[in-house]
Amino acid sequence: MNKVLVTGGTGYIGSHTVVKLLSAGMEVLVLDNLSNSSKEVVGRIEKLSGKSLQFFEGDIRDRALLRSIFERHSCNSVIHFAGLKAVGESEEQPLKYFDNNVAGSIVLFEEMIRARIHTLIFSSSATVYGDPGYACYQESTPLSPMNTYGRTKLMVEDILRDLKKANPEMQIALLRYFNPVGAHESGDIGEHPFGVPNNLMPFISQVAVGTREKLMIYGGDYSTPDGTGLRDYIHVEDLGAGHLAALHSLSENNSLITVNLGTGHPYSVLDMVHAFEKASGKKIPYEIIGRRPGDLPEYYADPALAKKVLGWEAKLGIDRMCADTWRWQQQNPQGYS
Ligand code: NAD
Ligand code: UFG
Repeated sequence: MNKVLVTGGTGYIGSHTVVKLLSAGMEVLVLDNLSNSSKEVVGRIEKLSGKSLQFFEGDIRDRALLRSIFERHSCNSVIHFAGLKAVGESEEQPLKYFDNNVAGSIVLFEEMIRARIHTLIFSSSATVYGDPGYACYQESTPLSPMNTYGRTKLMVEDILRDLKKANPEMQIALLRYFNPVGAHESGDIGEHPFGVPNNLMPFISQVAVGTREKLMIYGGDYSTPDGTGLRDYIHVEDLGAGHLAALHSLSENNSLITVNLGTGHPYSVLDMVHAFEKASGKKIPYEIIGRRPGDLPEYYADPALAKKVLGWEAKLGIDRMCADTWRWQQQNPQGYS
């Protein structure tokens, strides 16, 4: 049976993916230090999947812990979500990000190799592309991240490309996510960032539920149809399915796969506000303020390679993204606490 170690498995994308892995009959171990998630998630995952998992509270930088997990459990693959992801914080505390995201990944990869685990899926990001001067990103688009967080993702990608050359038996998927949103359709798991949300969707849903007064829209003067920024929002359930497809694909090909996980359909900030109003029946008050430094006007995925290589494509549209986020937010106005 396929036994998978999922780092960061109680986090937003990890939790949705773990439900899918368990539902597909895989055995799952989760390692998470709970720096950005709650242990409550474990019970919710088990309820949704009807299966149990093994949870280890700990850090990917804890070599002794990783070694004991790999020695006691015969894992054959790792899905590596664990990481810090706040762009602004990464600029203020770069060493924290290099240590957690890069040094932590190195410890994980060393222990995987020691335990002869050769299959790995890594959470990369569209941030690795930076600003190539056009909006539709293919996997061949030059890589030039514009912030520390993005550089940690590119560094780990580079490490894995070199690792694959030195260890041809490794099977590695680098999945570059665009903008994950949405929640499990039960409303039992979803995204609840600690503190003030950095990202658009959690902010909108906290305004809708009454936790926050109004949305600040960063820039209304971009050269886009309505003046607000365009992004490729992708439902977290589609992302989870992309990981299953990648595991399947790696089991058939001894390769290094690099693919975008996006829909290919960009939406503006105002599109998201209006779709959320429709899904929730709530008015979302907003104010258009100045642009956020570092934001690009527009980018989206060319998802063709993921379809060709993984046989995967996103299925859920903007209405489901908003309806599922709203269900989660309404049922859990304070998140997991
Ligand atoms: P998340 O913060 O909800 O999940 C990450 C999980 O990793 C958290 O549960 C956290 O507690 C855990 N973690 C962090 N550092 C750890 C460490 N050193 N040891 C053990 N556990 C640790 O974030 P998410 O949105 O689910 O993102 C998952 C991955 O996908 C991250 O690597 C992120 O950089 C990447 N990604 C996210 C987005 C996005 O917008 N959400 C976009 C592209 C890529
Ligand atoms: N936005 C607002 N108000 C807010 C938050 C966001 O107007 O309160 C706007 C932004 O200006 C942007 C859009 O909404 O136009 C999306 O912003 P997000 O912060 O939700 O997402 P980003 O595209 O900036 O970045 C996200 C993640 C990164 C990840 C990247 C991948 O934060 O970690 O997607 O494409 F790398």
